[in-house]
Amino acid sequence: MLNSIISIVVSYLLGSISFSILFARWLRKIDIRDHGSGNAGATNTLRVLGKGPAIAVFLLDIAKGSVAVLIGLWLRDGGHWVPVVCGLAAIAGHNWPVFFRFKGGKGIATTVGALVIWAFFPTLIAGVIAILVIVFTRYVSLGSMIFAVLLPILFYLFDLEAAYVWGAIAVAILAIARHRKNIVKLVNGTENKLGSSKKGEP
Ligand code: G3P
Repeated sequence: MLNSIISIVVSYLLGSISFSILFARWLRKIDIRDHGSGNAGATNTLRVLGKGPAIAVFLLDIAKGSVAVLIGLWLRDGGHWVPVVCGLAAIAGHNWPVFFRFKGGKGIATTVGALVIWAFFPTLIAGVIAILVIVFTRYVSLGSMIFAVLLPILFYLFDLEAAYVWGAIAVAILAIARHRKNIVKLVNGTENKLGSSKKGEP
């Protein structure tokens, strides 16, 4: 029991390391949350800092999700719930980081990292579909939401343990809730497109 609690707390702290905020501070001495869309994530890092930092942030945000779940698998006292809760804790840390006044990102890259460890193939399929959506529409937010909503459906179709299906349902709900402003902008036709020079409001 103690091991499980430790791994969940460590996962939240790991998720709270917001690489987009750190890179923006180091490279430009700015708070990324005051620029572009105001989101502390890889997409906004691309807008504000450019390709190199965005790729680094994306990979590091993925890595923290994966490491959190691996810690959960390593320290768990049994059962599937610990790696599931560790993944959710890392995503929660990314979205509401204790080190940065609880104002973080939308958790998609960290979700990718956590869920490839939960179940590789369904996450890969959802990821490929999301990439196609982003390539054809140039809306990262739309691809992110489709990715998140496909996860529980695919996890169910792949007949995974209930813990992972419920975990994926929680992930989808979190992702949609965090994209509320993007949904409004998509409906209004004002959402930023990938590669567009137009900056969103913080
Ligand atoms: O993962 C975040 C992405 O879906 C949207 O980011 O900065 O365009 O709101 P942003």
